[in-house]
Amino acid sequence: MNASQETTALLQSAREVLDENWKDGFTVPAQNQYPYQWSWDSAFIAAGYARYDRERAQRELRSLFNGQWADGRVPHIVFHNATPDASYFPGPDFWRTERNTFAPLSPSTSGIVQPPNHATAVLHIVRCAEEDGKQETLGFAGELFPKLRAWHDWLYRERDPKGEGVAYIIHPWESGQDNSPLWDPVLARMDVPPARISGFRRRDTLAVVPEERPLDSDYDRYIFLVDFFRRRGYDERKIFGDGCPFLVQDVMFNTLLCRAEQDMAELARLLGEDPAPFEARARRTADAVNRKLWDGDRGYYADFDLATGKPIPMPALAGFSPLFARIPGGDRAETMLRRLLTPSFGLGAEQKGYPASSYDREAPEYSPKRYWRGPAWIQMNWLLMHGLRAYGRNDQAERLRRAIMELPAKGGFREYFNPETGEGHGAHRFSWTAALLIDVLHERI
Ligand code: GLC
Repeated sequence: MNASQETTALLQSAREVLDENWKDGFTVPAQNQYPYQWSWDSAFIAAGYARYDRERAQRELRSLFNGQWADGRVPHIVFHNATPDASYFPGPDFWRTERNTFAPLSPSTSGIVQPPNHATAVLHIVRCAEEDGKQETLGFAGELFPKLRAWHDWLYRERDPKGEGVAYIIHPWESGQDNSPLWDPVLARMDVPPARISGFRRRDTLAVVPEERPLDSDYDRYIFLVDFFRRRGYDERKIFGDGCPFLVQDVMFNTLLCRAEQDMAELARLLGEDPAPFEARARRTADAVNRKLWDGDRGYYADFDLATGKPIPMPALAGFSPLFARIPGGDRAETMLRRLLTPSFGLGAEQKGYPASSYDREAPEYSPKRYWRGPAWIQMNWLLMHGLRAYGRNDQAERLRRAIMELPAKGGFREYFNPETGEGHGAHRFSWTAALLIDVLHERI
């Protein structure tokens, strides 16, 4: 096969993954491992559909927002399926979100959130239509616009009670980076009974080997936190006021919020609405990230633990994500780039393997196979690729783009990849791996 035939075959295989995972209205991240609709996955998946099936892209996000609560929050999982899927825990019966009057009666949902990348996906859909000379998605953007505004309003109202400009998260799952070493110091402080006492059974290690998943002790803490929230009926004031043990201002979450507000301003312009309030919030968040989360010693951004009042000093790739929302000024961006090109993250020009490692390869917590503790992830590469382009770093952006294409070609459409060998790990036939590959293959750069 020549190069163009190989690309066509790869594109075809990526579409097959999405077809298999499409459940007539939404896309599951992976059949066996994640059999429902996940919030930030859906936005990445819609970005891929935007390139070849805009009808599906719109249905994907509409379905997600069918699960939006009356208070504005967009839950991290929407359980559309009438019958709970036995392969996943914690399912709808565990969450008991009916304890909060704002939760929809149907579909049932979880009660926590994930990073707010949805306005960015909606703008991407509109832009892809424009590239094809079409305006037909503006109606859809107008339909989602008030829902997106309510979602962001909820984050600033409920998750930033002191009005700092940055939102906090209350669970590792809210970050999207479930078992990143970022959370180790916070989880270590929690005194939690092991599962054999609290009586739940995890299911995430049935389809994927335990060495590629979080430890039991981490899982005990994840479930303890969910129980803490459901006992308080998902009332954010109570969760905060009763001393929730996990309260973190996360770099990537706030970067995506900042970018989403910038994209809301753009959508407002296209829809004839006032962009100024969105621009103001985006600026306020960018300023707060720069003021509070910049780590000058390390040369990139760090999460902040509200329970201890201290930064979390763990070297995660997500600390570079503010490039995606053009948050750092030129000098900071230069400093970050120098750090990014050291052997830590695998982006140096002569370095072997595949960028970018989700965690510093030289840190003791690093593991090339275990979920968020080192493997390369396609959506992290995608965010960083766009961030580097925004600062004119096209060579490094191109290395990431190549990795987005090479990793699935070599390791399959897996959830994550060993950054040293390119071997695939975690769930098989994973949707956003396929969707973001489709997105970059269609780019006109
Ligand atoms: C894992 C990932 C999370 C993702 C979910 C569904 O939990 O850590 O980011 O949303 O899987 O794919």
